Amino acid sequence: MIDYGLARKVVIVTGAAGAIGCAIVRALIAEAALVVGVDIDAAGLAALAANITGDNFLPIEADVSTVAGTENYVAATVERFGRIDGLVNNAGIIGPRVPLLDLDPADFDRIMAINARSALLGQQHVMRRMIAQGGGGAIVNIASIGAMKPARSKASGYPASKAAVIALSDQAAVAGGPYGIRVNCVCPGGIDSDMITTENRGPAANTPYAKQPVPRLGRPAEVADMVLFLLGDRATYVTGGVHNIDGGALVA
Ligand SMILES: NC(=O)c1ccc[n+]([C@@H]2O[C@H](COP(=O)([O-])OP(=O)(O)OC[C@H]3O[C@@H](n4cnc5c(N)ncnc54)[C@H](O)[C@@H]3O)[C@@H](O)[C@H]2O)c1
Repeated sequence: MIDYGLARKVVIVTGAAGAIGCAIVRALIAEAALVVGVDIDAAGLAALAANITGDNFLPIEADVSTVAGTENYVAATVERFGRIDGLVNNAGIIGPRVPLLDLDPADFDRIMAINARSALLGQQHVMRRMIAQGGGGAIVNIASIGAMKPARSKASGYPASKAAVIALSDQAAVAGGPYGIRVNCVCPGGIDSDMITTENRGPAANTPYAKQPVPRLGRPAEVADMVLFLLGDRATYVTGGVHNIDGGALVA
């Protein structure tokens, strides 16, 4: 049994109602962390909350791409649990699956706001709070291997937004260093979720994932394992890192 040292630690997870967010919340609850789940999807949050017993979970409906939404979830966390020890910037959208030449700039702005601006705002507001508490803390930003290679799915705006998340994560690791705040970035490959098109969730042999060293889609719980490691006390020398979890997709 690995002890991540996360018991009674206060951790915010954005995009908590989604496939990966739910898995991260459940894994944190299993470690006895105090968890704030943030999402724009109130029904999804309620469904998640209904499956968690005890009073370790606080669902907050907020739009993480806005300053008001970010202030809202930070204030609600401090009001309920008194402090913030961790943040997982996980909310995201893939955007329209259209080739670059057909991408509407308004859609690009929306993808950048939800995927990248949210990471900037979350880091700024949470790091200010961590510094006010006397320092210490850990942040994990969920980017994508899409940042490193053109999207298979033709979601042509998405990779740029995730490349921005990696750069913002690196920047925050530098800014957080003097205050003992570690910041890391996780880049999943294909993970079984609604973000994956139906054809790519079909029999493994018919999908692009068949060519990977680990020839299948990843599971949300596998991403959660890496996130918990990076948030916890086993990773005290790990910051400014970009950690792929992709079944070897980038070397295939
Ligand atoms: N599924 C994959 O294969 C995969 C691969 C690489 C990276 N990722 C990344 O992992 C993260 C989680 O993805 P997922 O697969 O769980 O997707 P998902 O669609 O199941 O979850 C995303 C969640 O973000 C929420 N959200 C969207 N816009 C929001 C906003 N403005 N404010 C608050 N919440 C908002 C959605 O309601 C949803 O619950 C995303 O950042 C995604 O880009 C996923």
